[in-house]
Amino acid sequence: MYAQALDAVGQTAPAGPEDGERGQRFQRRVDAEQRIEPNDWMPAGYRKTLTRQISQHAHSEIVGMLPEGNWITRAPTLRRKAALLAKIQDECGHGLYLYAAAETLGCAREELVEQLLTGKAKYSSIFNYPTLTWADIGAIGWLVDGAAIMNQIPLCRCSYGPYARAMIRICKEESFHQRQGYEIMLTLCQGTPQQKEMAQDALNRWWWPCLMMFGPSDKQSLHSADTMKWKIKRFSNDDLRQKFVDATVPQGHYLGLSFPDPDLQFDAHSGHWRFGAIDWSEFKRVLAGDGPCNRERLAARRRVHEEGAWVRAAALAHAKKRAKNQAKNEAENPAENQAENQAENPAERASEAQTTGE
Ligand SMILES: [Fe+2]
Ligand SMILES: [Fe+2]
Repeated sequence: MYAQALDAVGQTAPAGPEDGERGQRFQRRVDAEQRIEPNDWMPAGYRKTLTRQISQHAHSEIVGMLPEGNWITRAPTLRRKAALLAKIQDECGHGLYLYAAAETLGCAREELVEQLLTGKAKYSSIFNYPTLTWADIGAIGWLVDGAAIMNQIPLCRCSYGPYARAMIRICKEESFHQRQGYEIMLTLCQGTPQQKEMAQDALNRWWWPCLMMFGPSDKQSLHSADTMKWKIKRFSNDDLRQKFVDATVPQGHYLGLSFPDPDLQFDAHSGHWRFGAIDWSEFKRVLAGDGPCNRERLAARRRVHEEGAWVRAAALAHAKKRAKNQAKNEAENPAENQAENQAENPAERASEAQTTGE
């Protein structure tokens, strides 16, 4: 999935000799479905695995803006352009929540971004494929965001509080993304024969890479037991992939499209759609940096990072100046500030509660 590289053999941090009593207490809390918060004690393996998973997820959201950004200026109508802009902006917001969640584990954002730009950190392999036609924007929303939802809904119950809370907000937006993608596909499929052909071509190209998004089969993963035990992960990669196929195939048939898999067949006995073998050599190649757009994606991220250096410097200088002025103001008028803070805080809290839907 968005953190699919984690599941490769040998990639997850080992559990370690779980720190005796503290480790047992930690596990009891996890078993009792209590959230682990940033200041709580946690095993080093848990912290390391989560930092890697959340940062890979954040990188995927940010890099994921690139293939769709490619179509903003060419969206067919103003309505489509506005929806696409909003979606891409949402993905940026997802990246920001997730970097903030990863930072609560003690790793600075600068360090995480550096790991992405130097190629040390991975992001989802799906974003290394090109968006060749407008139908690809439909296919991404329908399939890529659809696969993301399948994986991310269980993450809303992840044992780590900041990650779980970020995912609740993200999942609400992902569901809008999936619908807008499907609606693009539906419009194309009800259009001219050429438009329908374009939708079919997009499905043909995106289907297999989407199935790869769930990561390798759990049989190949030595450490998924730890992430299950820690309740970071709740379902196996294979189970999530199957759920996605079962939900998506009828949607494709409703569009009047066919799937590029001669082995795809409904198994009435189990109630599941059975699908053909996934080409894992392609997955490994793309993840290792040799997909159709890996170089292009990283080059774009590096370029914008350099071009944005002045914005980061200006924001830091502004924050510093503001803090200094505030400190000076507080030192000069302590009584006034206290009254102001008391008046301001309830309003602030109310508006926060509104935006979080509390
Ligand atoms: Fe997202
Ligand atoms: Fe999305």
